[in-house]
Amino acid sequence: MYKELNVNASLKELALCASERKIIDFFKKSTRVSNFSLLAADLYLDFSKQNINEHELTALIKWSEQLNLTEKINAMFLGDKINNTENRAVLHTLLRSSSLQQKQVLGDVAQDVVQTEQKLSEIVNSITQGKKKGVAGQPFTDVLAIGIGGSFYGIKVGLSALKPYCKTGINVHVLANVDGAAVAEKLALLSVETTLVVVISKTFTTQETLLNANAVKEWMLSEYPQNNDVNIIAKQWLAVSTNINQATEFGLDKNNILPMWDWVGGRFSVWSAVGLPLAIAIGMDHFNAFKQGAHHMDEHFKSAPARHNMPIIMALIGIWNRNFLDYPTLAILPYDHALRALPGYLQQTDMESNGKSVSNQGKKLPWLTAPVVFGQEGTNGQHAFMQLMHQSDDIIPTDFIVSFTGSSRYKDHHQVLVANCIAQSEALMQGKTLKQARVELADKNLPEEQISNLALHKSMKGNTPSNTLAMKALTPNTLGSLLALYEHKIFVQGVMWQLNSFDQWGVELGKQLSSQVLKAMTGDENNNLSSSSQMMINQYKELN
Ligand code: F6P
Repeated sequence: MYKELNVNASLKELALCASERKIIDFFKKSTRVSNFSLLAADLYLDFSKQNINEHELTALIKWSEQLNLTEKINAMFLGDKINNTENRAVLHTLLRSSSLQQKQVLGDVAQDVVQTEQKLSEIVNSITQGKKKGVAGQPFTDVLAIGIGGSFYGIKVGLSALKPYCKTGINVHVLANVDGAAVAEKLALLSVETTLVVVISKTFTTQETLLNANAVKEWMLSEYPQNNDVNIIAKQWLAVSTNINQATEFGLDKNNILPMWDWVGGRFSVWSAVGLPLAIAIGMDHFNAFKQGAHHMDEHFKSAPARHNMPIIMALIGIWNRNFLDYPTLAILPYDHALRALPGYLQQTDMESNGKSVSNQGKKLPWLTAPVVFGQEGTNGQHAFMQLMHQSDDIIPTDFIVSFTGSSRYKDHHQVLVANCIAQSEALMQGKTLKQARVELADKNLPEEQISNLALHKSMKGNTPSNTLAMKALTPNTLGSLLALYEHKIFVQGVMWQLNSFDQWGVELGKQLSSQVLKAMTGDENNNLSSSSQMMINQYKELN
């Protein structure tokens, strides 16, 4: 069933040596950095601080070849139904491809894509030029995007990463969580007459999104009740969905619904009309540059040989760390305030794609899969979890992400930010030996007893592997390349783990049980919930 297990066995043997060696020793060779770094699509990947050598990398590449990775990559781009449990193709890359490539793969459906992109552009321009007006005849000043998961994260990352490019003057807000506090917070910022609402839901059945949309609809109708002359929903609401029927049933005008397709996964959908709120914020030129950057990475991914292929290298090293060096987590540390939403975005892209234990053939997998992904912007993480990363016995592989030029006028701040990013990757690798800690304390003329008491406390394990992804500047183009890089890295890891990265059955049980809990909250005692949950439901009912 898994002839690859013997490949794993030889890699496991290699890994035994790896866990004994020091990463820092690789730098005795002057060629370490040049051989263990890559340039692609305006991104620089330094993977020289990873605990891997040429022989191990070659073995991993050979394993990927045994799994026909190249054919699998081509199959995705050509529209094979690789999402086999939902019998769907995976073609988000087409949304950032040329119309010729779209036609070659989609045939007649390509026309729908072209028309949708044209409609998106018309909507963006009509709003940013003040032509499209609300019920009171005023142009829109604000857009409220309602959606969750892939119908939210991509917009959120884009809005925060591309703030310097948000020049259209339209304030775009995102509303995802079902918590009424989030709804109240957003509506307090908005006026009914000048707010355009965009409801984004591929299925148009997501409980949180529908509840939020209804709350916003009520807010609007309370000021402008539906009547023969005024239809604020028709005038000020748009939707993005595959489910036209549900969207029209909600009250949306059919002409105001932009389509999505089942061959675009939710967490890969920011390139589609889901990106409408982002396009309104940054304008079509920058939105197209965002897609162009992703396309640039697509072309690299399709054409570069494995050893020089950035997504493949990141994927294989991720598997080396996860399955052979047995590191169960991955830290995403963007040293860039603008990329503060990236860890959350990648949690969905990575863990919702590969957080599985059943193969694409329906068999239990004999190996572990996606790591637990976490992170936050640097340098904040240095005052939160870096202590653990330096001094616990857990080794946490890390992706540092940094742009060498900042977008603000505070150049000295940016210099300190970049210095901290480089220093952290160095510190995680070098550590501090007991001997070094003792010398440092002795240099302070401390008495021997104090040195002996403190030295171990001040030593650090080091030998923590990291990538550093650097760019000259964070632009729509480089953001697109960065997101596409991770999309493809995750795709390659799914191929290596022999699972389907494009379904998400695991989210269903929670949804089923939440409807049971809701019923119990409203009096239906007939459920098989635990006494723990029942107790909390009763406490809730007493208070509400
Ligand atoms: O998290 C589960 C999920 O299905 C995601 O895959 C998706 O992006 C999100 O919920 C929202 O789904 P929809 O776009 O259909 O509302």
